[in-house]
Amino acid sequence: MVTIFDKWWQTGVIYQVYPRSFQDSNGDGIGDLRGIMSRLDYLQWLGIDAVWLSPIYPSPMADFGYDIADYTGIHPLFGSMQDFDALLDEVHKRGMKLLLDLVPNHTSDQHPWFLESRSSRDNPKRDWYIWHDPLPDGGVPNNWLSVFGGEAWEWDATTQQYYYHAFLKEQPDLNWRNPAVVAAMLDVMRYWLKKGVDGFRVDVMWHMIKDQQLRNNPVNPDYAQHMPTYSQQLPVYSTDQPEVHDVVRKMRHVMEEFEGDRVMIGEIYLPIQQLMAYYGIDNKGAHLPFNFQLLSLPWDAASLAVAIDQYEGALPAQGWPNWVLSNHDQHRIASRVGQQQARVAAMLLLTLRGTPTIYYGDEIGMRNVAIPFDEVQDPQGLNMPDKNLSRDPSRTPMQWDKGVNAGFTAGKPWLRLSKTYQRVNVSSQMADPYSMLSLYRQLIALRRREPSLTTGDYTPVFSDNQILAFMRQQEGHPSFLMVLNLTHLPCYFRPANFSFRGRIEVATFPEMEGSIVSDTISLDGDEGLVIRLER
Ligand code: NOJ
Repeated sequence: MVTIFDKWWQTGVIYQVYPRSFQDSNGDGIGDLRGIMSRLDYLQWLGIDAVWLSPIYPSPMADFGYDIADYTGIHPLFGSMQDFDALLDEVHKRGMKLLLDLVPNHTSDQHPWFLESRSSRDNPKRDWYIWHDPLPDGGVPNNWLSVFGGEAWEWDATTQQYYYHAFLKEQPDLNWRNPAVVAAMLDVMRYWLKKGVDGFRVDVMWHMIKDQQLRNNPVNPDYAQHMPTYSQQLPVYSTDQPEVHDVVRKMRHVMEEFEGDRVMIGEIYLPIQQLMAYYGIDNKGAHLPFNFQLLSLPWDAASLAVAIDQYEGALPAQGWPNWVLSNHDQHRIASRVGQQQARVAAMLLLTLRGTPTIYYGDEIGMRNVAIPFDEVQDPQGLNMPDKNLSRDPSRTPMQWDKGVNAGFTAGKPWLRLSKTYQRVNVSSQMADPYSMLSLYRQLIALRRREPSLTTGDYTPVFSDNQILAFMRQQEGHPSFLMVLNLTHLPCYFRPANFSFRGRIEVATFPEMEGSIVSDTISLDGDEGLVIRLER
């Protein structure tokens, strides 16, 4: 059977907006919905297809919105429900899609569900969360650790039990084994889908169900001191339980209740084989289980080549791939691999087979910004101060222009801006054909124009210790050859048994564009080429 991959979430490019940091419209130093709306023309100009917003719901902001106190409201910091409706409308008017962040694994400890649950042992919502008696010696029920440091159990003095929180103690985990919880969250999905949102990015999907017996996690033999304390264990009983797939399937059913191609993306940090299971039996799970390999692989041609091939090989028959270079929890790509390689990385992201997700600001080469110790806001940074794990550096305000606060706010920005914003910003890069922004825009446009690059097959061509080369081909359309030098040193591309001739369409050194190349190419360090092959 030939599968046709023509849904918008297969052919399109997704752009992640971290609302606090994108655009402030009211001078309080925090980005908001009206601000995002004012930048939609930019996103359309850039060529992206869908905007994913990190959480915008009412929240005490213990984890910057990933601690939700009301799943069907809008935090006043970000605006009102009218603002949201207007934003959704404006996104759709431009032919784009809007995705929300759904956080079903945990609520805020201020959510009415939890307030009820913790009020007494016999409250009807008691079992909506994971409560457990202490061990006979008074100790925690098991050895599970919190991702953000310390134990994952919090003692509740009033009701004399512990509750489980995979993240902060302000983020109690819901009990997804309780059908009432399932029903309530599926209704939350319906609420937004009815409004017309085009889908969800589902937070920590692999955490949603835990071992029924709450067995102890084993020790991680590879733990090293610099790692987060959470990595002292292998979370085999606290995450990725077989029953999670029933939950995902139910969520997918809800997506199917609605017209149009709504999409469900799963945030899942797991090895490939386990990740693939989240596509579900008969592809009735997540449409796109996030593929985070590019976030953590060593940045070398051989490792990338192997990982891409393994991923391609492991995908289920109807499963559509996707790629991510950075997000609000990770280092920015330009800081991780350097400014020059970030151009090569952009080329890789936008020419691989699979839906690319761009993290706001990466398209202008924003780097992690050093945040002085006394300005750190991220709880992950504050809770493990000796490990340098704060995520603030990759969440700094978008750099729009060289004006006050880079055009982000007229007030005091909630997080300091990059000291380089006067030269690294959207406005200056729009005018510069050699900029990162121009490269992104050109790659996105080419990808959209060329069926081979949008949905064509992926064929590995060559890799060694410097070069990664692959082809994308779709019958009846021109084929493309990508040749990427993953190092700073020059090299030759002259693969044995592979003869080619073509025209360079996009190059990390734009001087090369339009040149004809064949059989042997000498590449500068950090050079990447997208070549339209002649038949
Ligand atoms: C994953 C989110 O991306 C991250 O920012 C958050 O802290 C955790 N989930 C907890 O919700």
